Amino acid sequence: MEVIADPIAMQRRAEAARRWGDRIALVPTMGFLHEGHLTLMREGRARASMLVASIFVNPTQFGPNEDLAHYPRDLSGDLAKLREVPVDVVFTPDREAIYTPGAQTWVEVTELTRGLCGAHRPGHFRGVTTIVAKLFNLVKPHFAIFGEKDFQQLRAIQRMVIDLNFDLEIVPMPIVREKDGLAMSSRNAYLSPDERRDALALSRALFAARDHYVAGMRDAETLRKTALKVIAETPKVELEYLEAVDADTLEWPARADRPILLAVAARVGTTRLIDNIVLGVRRP
Ligand code: PAJ
Repeated sequence: MEVIADPIAMQRRAEAARRWGDRIALVPTMGFLHEGHLTLMREGRARASMLVASIFVNPTQFGPNEDLAHYPRDLSGDLAKLREVPVDVVFTPDREAIYTPGAQTWVEVTELTRGLCGAHRPGHFRGVTTIVAKLFNLVKPHFAIFGEKDFQQLRAIQRMVIDLNFDLEIVPMPIVREKDGLAMSSRNAYLSPDERRDALALSRALFAARDHYVAGMRDAETLRKTALKVIAETPKVELEYLEAVDADTLEWPARADRPILLAVAARVGTTRLIDNIVLGVRRP
């Protein structure tokens, strides 16, 4: 497994691989890898002859009062997991090499990023789409794999790829959960055992709404209230938002005849967690 830190070296490596006829898959991450990330890696492995994982804790997607300085890191543990997949190239650039002095160009998806997390994390998605566009230009992938755990991020990146004519395919992957339902996340490492138990209210709420949907309920607001009731039963979960929106446009209100995205963000202690579920048949 090669580990490349220099962006120019990464770009040359990708160019050489393309000349050889390799098909390149990229899985962008911020590290502290768990089974959710590794599921994306294995999908990339199955699709491509060269699998690249990137590990970069991207400062431009963190707000001034967010957890950039404390974001969990374990590079040697991550490399051991990636060797198992196996991954061909790990791209681990440092901040200074990625954001060159004087950088002033942003990639911004305007409408899809207005609501949900976008309303609570100003500038976050602009940071995400900018770094992902840069990674696409450095790694030159044919496929890029993203998790539905960050559903709004996935939709923003799909839009960016269309709008900016990136010549690659975005491959979405379902949320990987712990046995008890908690969506896997690097940030789960922040949770105390008590908080870990309280955090289950998020997935429990979404599953309650799913059960209601399966039983025939199609009214988005009623489904939202079903989920809200479960969250309210756990007072230590401080709700940021719980919304039912159209799963493609992320607009409210969600129509009963179209797939509904039920998305939640909440704080458990000081840890901000997100989760979501799509109700109804959906396109990829
Ligand atoms: P990170 O949070 O490390 O996630 C990297 C990828 O793993 C994302 O596509 C995310 O949706 C996916 N992922 C995380 N947890 C998952 C789970 N439980 N099931 C399925 N997929 C999961 O998302 C980012 O990093 C960054 O914003 C990034 C795209 C790398 C840009 O900096």
